[in-house]
Amino acid sequence: MGEGVKSSMPAVTAMAHPNLALVKYWGQRDTVRQLPLNDSISVNLSGATTTTTVQFDVALEKDEFELDGARPSAAAVARVSAHMQRIRALAGIPTYARVQSRNSFPAGIGIASSASGFAALTLAGTRAAGLALDAKALSSLARLGSGSACRSIPDGFAEWLAGTGEDSYAVQLAPPEHWDLAIVTVYFDPQPKAISSLEGHRAAPSSPFFEARLRQLGETLRTVRWAVLERDFSTLGMAVEREALSLHVIAMSSRVAGQPHLSGIYYWQPQTLALMHAVQRWRAEGLAVAFTLDAGPAVHLLVEAENRGALLEAVGGVLPALGGQVLVSAPGMGARVVDEEKGKFNAESRVF
Ligand code: PMV
Repeated sequence: MGEGVKSSMPAVTAMAHPNLALVKYWGQRDTVRQLPLNDSISVNLSGATTTTTVQFDVALEKDEFELDGARPSAAAVARVSAHMQRIRALAGIPTYARVQSRNSFPAGIGIASSASGFAALTLAGTRAAGLALDAKALSSLARLGSGSACRSIPDGFAEWLAGTGEDSYAVQLAPPEHWDLAIVTVYFDPQPKAISSLEGHRAAPSSPFFEARLRQLGETLRTVRWAVLERDFSTLGMAVEREALSLHVIAMSSRVAGQPHLSGIYYWQPQTLALMHAVQRWRAEGLAVAFTLDAGPAVHLLVEAENRGALLEAVGGVLPALGGQVLVSAPGMGARVVDEEKGKFNAESRVF
């Protein structure tokens, strides 16, 4: 234990964006330490933000957590408290903290608030505890809160090196300004997902095709990494689309523990499939667009920024029939400490 803290430890606010995987993390080597079986590549989504304030206070008898102005579920409180416990252990302090978090986007729409949430919590929590962790340590710690949160620490495009322990963290592949992409997320009525990504990760190795996916991933990673660095959209688009389908092939052919009535996990809804068909049609008509899908029905559409208007027009043509909504992003920054007094991000607090 350290020397304890003063009751007036300053509050620290940090923000982070969720990230969209271009090469997906699906399947875990270690479920406790959140170690993935494969490297993955992502881009931060500028259109969605989690902002989190942490203040340690000796008057508290337990951690307090408020999300979007309300008290979250007991499971969410326990998950945040477990992360605060990791931060206390690192800082050598016994003090509990008040955590207030706000998301700029609705829950359950297929954008992982756990990634932006644990990235922002890790940065705000460690700074509020008086720690100044480097980018690797922050990413590694964020991973323990939620695997893919490690990719929301660096700016722009990130690669999570799977590793086997402390060497499992994300590094920057390219800064946000490297490539002016537009990411249009089409989401449908918020609905709790039937099978969580946690269950999906656990079930993945039961698919008879899982080994084939892992064998394919080396080439997929090389292709996507190269396409990002070279800004080659047609190569990126086809690789990313096939990669997303590969995850869903695994999900659809997985056996979920304790749920013998399930022949597989189907994250798609009819609207998901309608948009996938539309993307192939739009591409045949000359629009350079690609989709990717995570563990839910939302469809993420990628174009180069010059095609943003054409894509939004095309999406606008099918949306009334599908009943979805859109969120538009560009490649986003990494986790940041926010200078609330000045109402802007503190550039000196850049992690990368
Ligand atoms: O970090 P988790 O446990 O929510 O898993 C993320 C899983 C996917 O979003 C489907 C893929 C990814 O790499 O983000």
